Amino acid sequence: MSEAVAIAHPNVALSKYWGKRAVGRFPAVPSLSVTLSGLTTRTRVRFDRALSEDRVVLNGAPGDDGARARAVDLLDRVRRAAGEKRRAAVDSSNDFPTASGLASSASGFAALALAAVRAAGLDWDIPRVSDLARRSSASAARSLFGGYVELDAAHPVPREDDILAARSIAPADQLPLLVLVCVTTEGPKAVGSTAGMATTMAKSPYATAWLEEAPRLHARLREALFAKDFEAVGELAESSALAMHASAIAAGVIYWTGATLDVLAAVRRLRDARVPVFASIDAGPHVKVLVRPQDASGVHAVMRATAGVRRVIESWPGQGARLEAAIGPVS
Ligand code: PMV
Repeated sequence: MSEAVAIAHPNVALSKYWGKRAVGRFPAVPSLSVTLSGLTTRTRVRFDRALSEDRVVLNGAPGDDGARARAVDLLDRVRRAAGEKRRAAVDSSNDFPTASGLASSASGFAALALAAVRAAGLDWDIPRVSDLARRSSASAARSLFGGYVELDAAHPVPREDDILAARSIAPADQLPLLVLVCVTTEGPKAVGSTAGMATTMAKSPYATAWLEEAPRLHARLREALFAKDFEAVGELAESSALAMHASAIAAGVIYWTGATLDVLAAVRRLRDARVPVFASIDAGPHVKVLVRPQDASGVHAVMRATAGVRRVIESWPGQGARLEAAIGPVS
């Protein structure tokens, strides 16, 4: 028996990726994220001769067919690389809502990739593990790293075996900020991000506009981050999220609810009152509010009092994925 336990955190993309190349999980646009402490996924992988098939447990219950198939796919890649024949038991839990646009796939596949690689005794460096995680969920490639992280767009016509990993571009203290995750529902989302982006690319009259605009926003956001300009980073992050959702909404892919709009309105009112605060939204109804540390407690109170907000999770730039424990042939 050999096993490893890894911890990873979700990340929020300040400049979003939305849209894949025709082959594999290769992003069509670059993205820049910040890895979030305050939300955690913990995943144990055990390769065990006694198992006749892979077992996948998510938050204490057997994973559904889709989740299981994606985990088995990652395990198969690791088994092929390591010459490992044994089946695995995977046990993963989140301390935040799963599959509802809170980036559980990012932290989930980052932790699974690291735990599986180490349990199989592979000595892959973190960029190699990031590439593996990307094959399950492109945003997961970024959660291997802490602080501010970039994932390039892929070559327009990638080959399945091309390596594309994320990389760290600035430490967690590059730009002091807090992310207030305004949770608007605890249930799973209706449309997964892979299906949502495929529909956007196939049907949205604004898909091309998004694919052209995203790299420009990304380049400006990168510069603002290096200039440590919180307001410019926040404005560009909000623009990226709104442009992404505008392209999706035009294809009928609507992740927002009334609560999402109420939080956006509260953010705007705060800005009118000269509090620099900005919003980001992923493939779900929750809003991630970007705020300076000195404004966090006041903004937190406003968000908590906003209709439809069930709770507010405070998070801040944090560490990348790491191993918590290992037994057996870990390199
Ligand atoms: O990692 P995926 O393929 O599930 O896509 C995530 C897409 C967004 O979260 C909406 C944006 C991003 O860059 O993380």
